[in-house]
Amino acid sequence: MLSEHCPEHFELARKNTPLQKMPRLSRELGVEIFFKRDDLTGSELSGNKIRKLEFLLADARAKGADTVITCGGAQSNHCRATAIAAVRCSMQATVLLRTEDPAQPPATTGNILLDKLVGAEIVWITPQEYQDIDRIFQRESDRLAGSGRIPCIIPEGGSNHIGCWGYITALREIREDLSREGITDPAGTTVLSATGSGGTTAGLVLGTKLLDLDVDVAGVNVCDDADYFKNKVSAICRDFSRSYGRDIPVCRDEIRIIDGYVGRGYARSRPEELRAIQALARLEGVILDPVYTGKAFYGLQCELKKDRNRFGTRIVFIHTGGIFGLFPCAAQFEELF
Ligand SMILES: Cc1ncc(COP(=O)(O)O)c(C=O)c1O
Repeated sequence: MLSEHCPEHFELARKNTPLQKMPRLSRELGVEIFFKRDDLTGSELSGNKIRKLEFLLADARAKGADTVITCGGAQSNHCRATAIAAVRCSMQATVLLRTEDPAQPPATTGNILLDKLVGAEIVWITPQEYQDIDRIFQRESDRLAGSGRIPCIIPEGGSNHIGCWGYITALREIREDLSREGITDPAGTTVLSATGSGGTTAGLVLGTKLLDLDVDVAGVNVCDDADYFKNKVSAICRDFSRSYGRDIPVCRDEIRIIDGYVGRGYARSRPEELRAIQALARLEGVILDPVYTGKAFYGLQCELKKDRNRFGTRIVFIHTGGIFGLFPCAAQFEELF
């Protein structure tokens, strides 16, 4: 069913990414833990977003677009990946980046530096405007169309029924990875990742259905709350069913969101989160980011410390990337050293 329906897509990401055993971490937390290294999908294109963009950019191209417009936080990994992938597909990118005061945008570092390097057009917008993002998308789309371009809107995080194909196909990859590890029956496995706009979680949930794979999917939300993401992931799954003419029922209650780890808020770190990143770096030589994977990992660790049977007997933590978000936090890390 998967190959039958899988839409046309570009090959932009370096796949298959490794599934790595985490022996010291597994010993420490008392559960078998693997990391799916989606931070290695590329260097400048690293992370989970490029898997979605393979499908989203192919869709934009099929619609005749020459420009993609998308949005995110100032240090958005998704916008950076879109900006770079657009160049690779001979398209242009306009990125709508959220900042408190557009007249005084943040420093050119991390993802912003990369956005500028590849020539993306940056439009700074306020948090208030961001709340009305559909209107701003339309405004920018009209402006670009008025100057002769053919724009196509890609939603926040690339999270819609098209982008989620990236993680439907990633789950198939994980099934193959586990099989190579000698695990032919993955029942009892929890596949866990950070949830920021819901597309990765939606893709994984849909993947379990399309592949008939008996694994548990969980997302640790890094913003908003469980209710918000249960609604958002259900909506993406519903759109998916409608768009591909299949009835793939996903009930809201089977969407597992581990809430309680947003901490100080989106892209704001607590010292304990940064300490968890530091501890993992020293234990396994794996580097997480502060905005997504660091919070998700901190959540996983806290939950397992409370109850080591909280998840399955085996955990596949998807390292979804985000490395460039680390560098703007150097001063905060410095306090730990
Ligand atoms: C590094 C990283 N990890 C995880 C996520 C969350 O994925 P999603 O937006 O599909 O929920 C994002 C983006 O939001 C991200 O940039």
